[in-house]
Amino acid sequence: MTRPLILLTGATGYIGSHTWLALLASGFDVVGVDNFSNSSRETLNRLHRLSGQTPDFVEADVCSAAAMDAVIRGRRVAAAVHFAAFKAVGESASQPLAYYANNVGGLLTLCQAMQANDCKTLVFSSSATVYGNPQQLPIREDAPLSTTNPYGASKLISENMLRDVEQADAAWAIALLRYFNPVGAHESGLIGEDPRGTPNNLMPYITQVAVGQRARLQVFGNDYDTPDGTGVRDYIHVLDLADGHVQALRYLLGQRRGITANLGTGVGYSVLEMVRAFEQASGHPVPFEIVARRPGDIGACYADPSRAREMLGWTAQRGLAAMCADSWRWQSQNPHGMAP
Ligand code: UFG
Repeated sequence: MTRPLILLTGATGYIGSHTWLALLASGFDVVGVDNFSNSSRETLNRLHRLSGQTPDFVEADVCSAAAMDAVIRGRRVAAAVHFAAFKAVGESASQPLAYYANNVGGLLTLCQAMQANDCKTLVFSSSATVYGNPQQLPIREDAPLSTTNPYGASKLISENMLRDVEQADAAWAIALLRYFNPVGAHESGLIGEDPRGTPNNLMPYITQVAVGQRARLQVFGNDYDTPDGTGVRDYIHVLDLADGHVQALRYLLGQRRGITANLGTGVGYSVLEMVRAFEQASGHPVPFEIVARRPGDIGACYADPSRAREMLGWTAQRGLAAMCADSWRWQSQNPHGMAP
């Protein structure tokens, strides 16, 4: 049987690289595209070591129509998974045009190139951010959608655009996957989250404190309406997230119809629970101080993951201890990330 070829954009990024491996292990071939705007070439060497094969890779920007057309035209691409996007909430508020250009413009360019080459199966990286400040927990896919920053708006605009595309042409099959909070790393410790500069997100910040690169974690508020007052999130192991993409592709290619699904565990942990779990997994202390709330943050956010279970046959398998142990292995083996 031939292995369907999947185009991954943002392929050397955090979720892209883990999904690349999961696809190769699940009977798919992959061509990866990235412009290294927030990832390293070294990822390709690591993928080579882990998969035993030379990655089929094209360095290109998803906003380049010519490049996207060339990648798809020259190959029999069965489907695309579109990860390439900017993702820093704070930065999006100061550089909205860059976010709309890259996140909405890149998706538009990709879809046009796909359509021109009759490739109409797409998995899109969306985010729980489209639920805004959720009124009900756990969050179901039919919850009201809203956004509070340009990053979130770029995801919601993208979702709406893709719904219109599906509506206009039934040959399209599109999965909108709403990620909760990805953490963890491949169990080899060879690939993982490699943020540039100061991490915005909790887990990479915790790991950098534990490895001694930063003095202490700042906990943004302990007066939320949560059991210990700190923010509660649905952390999901990146390997489970990668498997969710494999299942979504199988669904789209088999059923030829779209789906919108949460990818989360359904369980929320507070910032302080994360700190304690990480200390236990790593054997290192994580000093912290309580500071003011971060503007725009919400108290609690966790998924109802039942649709993904029912429709995709997918549930998260890995618990908090594995998330912390794998994050720690990656960070301690690569204290400076991918950079040699
Ligand atoms: N936090 C801290 N200190 C830090 C970083 C985070 O206390 O240094 C807290 C936050 O206040 C929050 C929790 O840790 O309570 C998680 O924060 P993250 O920044 O890791 O994650 P968010 O849930 O805020 O944001 C994530 C993604 C966004 C996405 C959002 C909603 O990073 O892209 O989920 O889906 F928009």
